[in-house]
Amino acid sequence: MRLSALFALALLVAMRAHGAASDVDGARIKASASEAANWLTTGRTYFEERFSPLTQVSDKNVGQLGLAWYHDFGSTIGLEATPLVADGVMYTSGVWNILLPPLPPLNPPAQTASKEVIERGAGLYRATCRLCHGLDAVSGGMTPDLRYMSVETHKDFRDTVLYGKRAKEGMAPFADMYTAQDVDAIHAYVIDRTQAAARAGAKQ
Ligand code: HEC
Repeated sequence: MRLSALFALALLVAMRAHGAASDVDGARIKASASEAANWLTTGRTYFEERFSPLTQVSDKNVGQLGLAWYHDFGSTIGLEATPLVADGVMYTSGVWNILLPPLPPLNPPAQTASKEVIERGAGLYRATCRLCHGLDAVSGGMTPDLRYMSVETHKDFRDTVLYGKRAKEGMAPFADMYTAQDVDAIHAYVIDRTQAAARAGAKQ
């Protein structure tokens, strides 16, 4: 698989939540050939083979890839670093070697709800979630921007919002206010906002 395909694939696969740094040491780099899902060093392996053993993207389906996310560096001068991927987070250096924090991609799951349900979710979101998570689900930075939830956080949505899975971290449960259907409707609205951001190539 070519690097460009890998780059696109890496943007499509599940990425870990914002800011989670990985432990990558010399031993791991030497053994990097054994980590199919990662691209830990220039050329991927210690021998710089520049080949990914992943098979999800192939010469048969590469034409179906679309833009999932982008970041505008403001210039293309010296923009030639090989992006590295460690445990679901992509790292790269921008122009003039300016380093950026890990940029999470958008992971919108498929939308299964109707327009009416999304509308209802939007109303519920505005009534309660907006206070902390921002107008139109665009966070000001104090709390997570729900559009950038990881694949795992999408799966945990009910547990987090209804049953307090993240209560210790400051996300109080809403089981006394909302039903599972209400929370699913809010989730549908957040997915809708995420898909809109992905279409617009939302900036960080
Ligand atoms: C009083 C403030 C507050 C309100 C209101 C609030 N949240 Fe949160 N929420 C937080 C905080 C703080 C976190 C970060 C918890 C953490 O660090 O894991 C969070 C995290 C989350 C997460 C995990 C996001 C991620 O990417 O890790 C989800 C999902 C979530 N909230 C959904 C909701 C929904 C849906 C509502 C409305 C029903 C809501 N929240 C209302 C404060 C709030």
